[in-house]
Amino acid sequence: MRISLAPMQGFSDQIYRSTLSHIGGVDVFYAPYIKVEGGEIKPKSLADIAPEINNGLTVVPQVLANKTDDMLQVAHTVGKLGYTELNWNLGCPFPMVAKRQLGAGLLPYPEKIDSLLSDFEAQSDIAISVKMRLGYLSPDEIWPVLDVLNRHNIKEIIVHPRIGKQMYNGEADKSIMPEIMPEIISESAHPVAYNGDILTAEQARELLDANPAVTHLMIGRGLLRNPFLANEIKGETLNISQKRSRFSNFTVEIAGRQLNRLQGAGHFLQKMTTYWEYWSQMFADQHKVLKMVKKCHSVDEYFSVTEMVTNNYPLSSMA
Ligand SMILES: Cc1cc2nc3c(=O)[nH]c(=O)nc-3n(C[C@H](O)[C@H](O)[C@H](O)COP(=O)(O)O)c2cc1C
Repeated sequence: MRISLAPMQGFSDQIYRSTLSHIGGVDVFYAPYIKVEGGEIKPKSLADIAPEINNGLTVVPQVLANKTDDMLQVAHTVGKLGYTELNWNLGCPFPMVAKRQLGAGLLPYPEKIDSLLSDFEAQSDIAISVKMRLGYLSPDEIWPVLDVLNRHNIKEIIVHPRIGKQMYNGEADKSIMPEIMPEIISESAHPVAYNGDILTAEQARELLDANPAVTHLMIGRGLLRNPFLANEIKGETLNISQKRSRFSNFTVEIAGRQLNRLQGAGHFLQKMTTYWEYWSQMFADQHKVLKMVKKCHSVDEYFSVTEMVTNNYPLSSMA
């Protein structure tokens, strides 16, 4: 069983990935997508996957592209950094992205996916894995896309069973899971991984019991709100006091490193609040905790409030 951290722009950067790795349980870390704009890759995207700061972690870079040249440029760049796999984002649902036939917006065009992969394979040795939704407008879009992927050399297909139009709302389509995952697995010539709405170890176990062929779970928001989730899925349980002290160290380390990276208290407090939207769920009174963090006006206040919370506030049943 492999557990990976899903790519999440704004959250799963190198600081987050390496700090989460100290808690354990996660085997592979997918970096947020890289894109080519005006012929260039943002230096910030490349800095995030620089090998010297990702030492010891298995990181997979991701690309958001719909042109062979862009895909090749990213593949060539990550190849030079020592990466051998590039994950192709066919899941991003945001209209600004999707209406340009990128991310999930490319799923209704299997012929484009086909020709891009043919051109890419002829010119690059980097292995491609795919992270995809069931479709953009309809879940039936997956079938012609799978036919195309079957004709190519794809390392793995990670399926997030929503359509693009659902954004991140509504449940991942678990109602059709029992039928659709086995069908996708049997239709696919490549290994299939699951992603979407795994929030508890019980949910993960149910999913794996129903789909024994799935040996890779990718988890995003479930790990954001509970950094121990991968451990729990693997049966490595911690007692409450171990959890409390590890959670406290985890949040302090991320905050300390973000403080070094970000210019100014305002940016720092804003960034940390986005994490606490998830981390507050570790506590019984999550709304109160989030409110307290939101009210912090200085870096010192942030550290003293969060230290008090992590050391003293009752944990939720999730923790
Ligand atoms: C804030 C945020 C940023 C995301 N950024 C990316 C991204 O860069 N690339 C990608 O493939 N998916 C991205 N996703 C989607 C997640 O990787 C994942 O597919 C989705 O959240 C469903 O999994 P989960 O329910 O375990 O979170 C993002 C999701 C969120 C919430």
